[in-house]
Amino acid sequence: MPLRIGDTAPNFNAESNEGKIDFYDWAGDKWVVLYSHPADFTPVCTTELGRTAKLKPEFDKRNTKAIALSVDSAEDHRRWIGDIDDTQHTKVNFPIIADQDRKVATLYDMIHPNADNSLTVRSVYFIDPKHKVRATITYPASTGRNFGEILRVIDSLQLTDNYKVATPVDWQQGDECVIVPSVSNEEAKKRFSKGWKELRPYLRLTPQPNR
Ligand code: BEZ
Repeated sequence: MPLRIGDTAPNFNAESNEGKIDFYDWAGDKWVVLYSHPADFTPVCTTELGRTAKLKPEFDKRNTKAIALSVDSAEDHRRWIGDIDDTQHTKVNFPIIADQDRKVATLYDMIHPNADNSLTVRSVYFIDPKHKVRATITYPASTGRNFGEILRVIDSLQLTDNYKVATPVDWQQGDECVIVPSVSNEEAKKRFSKGWKELRPYLRLTPQPNR
């Protein structure tokens, strides 16, 4: 069964370039972005892992840890990290799971046999501190992910956990949010002191509540 939004992200033990990892212990009380890439020593993956390393301060601000995965060995990961550091002008500062037996890839449905029988696709799991899967993204090997979008999704998840709003199309931090339809205008008056614009009874725009 694929893992879906709202499911519990299963725990696992795995090797990584940083040694053995118990996923839940490693995650602690943080949000996690767990993502797979098809293979070490490949060009798109090299750029993605470099970007992840550079974005560590942004992940930290969001109480979030990143962890990558491919079906290569920990030894390969360690050798490849030298190339990532050199070519992307950074220092890889997060673990890469060495899933040679494909145990984690299978658990998280990261191998899509009609795309490739043995390599992982570009899966992203957004997992909250209670180990719930909150969002997923899946790209094919040929399309590098947009890590700005990954940060944007974390921002939306964390904002909408705390306020009765949802984030509209192309939302970015600081933009207007929509008041969720289950909130009556009476309740909205109490919750949204900055007021709102009512374009339709179901489409009410309010300034981002925590700004
Ligand atoms: C890459 O990371 O560049 C890549 C990996 C597998 C297939 C195609 C591209």
